[in-house]
Amino acid sequence: MDQPIGVIDSGVGGLTVARELMRQLPKEQLIYLGDTVRCPYGPRPEKEVIRYTLEMVDFLMEKQIKLLVIACNTATAFTLEFLQEKLSIPVIGVIQPGARAAMKITKTKKIGVIGTEGTIKSKAYPHALEYISSKLDIYDLACPKFVPLVESGQFSREAAEQIVSDSLQPMLKHHGLDTLILGCTHYPLLADQIKAVMGQRVQIISSGEETAREVSVIMSYQHIAYEGERLAKHQFYTTGSPILFEQIANRWMDYPVQFIEQVTIDQTLIDNE
Ligand code: DGL
Repeated sequence: MDQPIGVIDSGVGGLTVARELMRQLPKEQLIYLGDTVRCPYGPRPEKEVIRYTLEMVDFLMEKQIKLLVIACNTATAFTLEFLQEKLSIPVIGVIQPGARAAMKITKTKKIGVIGTEGTIKSKAYPHALEYISSKLDIYDLACPKFVPLVESGQFSREAAEQIVSDSLQPMLKHHGLDTLILGCTHYPLLADQIKAVMGQRVQIISSGEETAREVSVIMSYQHIAYEGERLAKHQFYTTGSPILFEQIANRWMDYPVQFIEQVTIDQTLIDNE
């Protein structure tokens, strides 16, 4: 099937998932939308996250996507089930894949989860992990300073190391913890700093790899994978500044991210025009 895969996030974080999709599915074309202007979603009320996510989905559905990846944990926590029922295309979130990846790795069954306030409050990770096994110790922690840090593009500086270290101190108190889920797609951009604080005994899990694997399985099961030969071309949209988006994207992606289009998806703005 020739149609693209849609990928949404509140900003640049979903690029960590897009990168894995490009690596594992090199013939598939992506349309990425980051709602940078309204990022972060993490501290927002559930209702607002739902409305913003549905506006992103409407934008991508008009582009005839064949599958949707909600590359945002906060949006996954609040909208996955609804979108899976509502849309006629497969919808994949990042929480179950992240939980599965952690379960494959943990030996002590003591798992940490860090994420936005919204994701942590929703308890979506503990639910997903306990669905797989009830014999777990799960420690969750909101790290509200991480997303603004990543979106500012300043995440390789010393100040960033200090913020990461301060935020993760409560996690260091849990003895025997051997696995830490990065329950926000922005956090892999801070993986080096997070690893430095958590130490070598703790394995860091980002859900991108497992999510891309799930996309691949679902596409072959539903016979919607692209079967010809081509050099995939991807499209990138942001509601915020394309310049900052491009800078962050090109530091992170193996694919040259260019010609990023700035779009308006805020229904209230459109209605008032
Ligand atoms: N990258 C997103 C997530 O995985 C959103 C972070 C935010 O906007 O607060 O939760």
